[in-house]
Amino acid sequence: MPIKLVTTAVELRSESARLLMQKQGASQGLVPTMGALHEGHAQLARTAVEQNDVVVASIFVNPLQFGDAVDLDRYPRTLDADLALLEAEGVDLAFAPSVEEVYPGGEPLVRVTAGPLGDKWEGASRPGHFDGALTVVAKLLHYGIPGAGLPPSGAFASSGGAGLAAYRAYFGQKDAQQLALVRRMVADLDFPVDIVGVPTVRSADGLALSSRNRFLSGEQREAALVLSRALRLLEDRSNAHEPLDLESAQDLVASQPLVELDYFEVVDPGTLEPLAENCRETPFRGEGLAIIAAKVGPVRLIDNVPLSS
Ligand code: PAF
Repeated sequence: MPIKLVTTAVELRSESARLLMQKQGASQGLVPTMGALHEGHAQLARTAVEQNDVVVASIFVNPLQFGDAVDLDRYPRTLDADLALLEAEGVDLAFAPSVEEVYPGGEPLVRVTAGPLGDKWEGASRPGHFDGALTVVAKLLHYGIPGAGLPPSGAFASSGGAGLAAYRAYFGQKDAQQLALVRRMVADLDFPVDIVGVPTVRSADGLALSSRNRFLSGEQREAALVLSRALRLLEDRSNAHEPLDLESAQDLVASQPLVELDYFEVVDPGTLEPLAENCRETPFRGEGLAIIAAKVGPVRLIDNVPLSS
């Protein structure tokens, strides 16, 4: 079926309700994106399409989560290619609202605050970023609630639908801190949605896919590979029940002159607190997440791998 593009929340609600009735659907998936879609987003869409009867993807470059107007301006906007990718994955509806549609009164006075979990790691170098991201995710999750556009007569149930549809939203594990925060927001504020984390997609040489990779020169891209190599080293040591020796992996990254390391730590996947004791002389035990961020040329890159032993 060709994808349908809608630009207002009212249209989104009525179109998704219509599709749920038409397909006698019992589940709806939402894939929030900022566009400039690549294979990582395709994987989010594919997973959502496998797991739901109706799938909505949003495309919205959210000014609230950019600290820097230049970064916001140069964020790639590729709507036609994005729609083609989503259609090829079987997404039913694309929601691409304007800034005025999402923030009709200008920037919202009341926002979601990420709290202490939003101040560390990515939050430390991008103040306010996670408040902005969570605020728009809260709005997008509300727009996407299945059945919100149904007439009050219960037409969905009488059409053979199973009543209230299951609701899932899909986020990449590559943005580990964002995913942890979205999970906390949904749990702490009782949003009626299941959050699904989808594994990171990498190019053949290991680089985690990101819309920002296109700004790397050939030489910078080559240098950036040290991030995934260093993570892989920790993953291999964890799988082999060897001490992680985080310091030697940090040294490996520091030896690459084009890479300006910001942080490289092993943390608890839920609280993102460092698991320092677990990273030195004894083999790693339990669940962890190795997280890394670095500047390479004009681009800030982040990556992570889950560790389990
Ligand atoms: O991960 C992103 O692309 C964005 O932060 C999101 C979740 C779409 C909110 O703007």
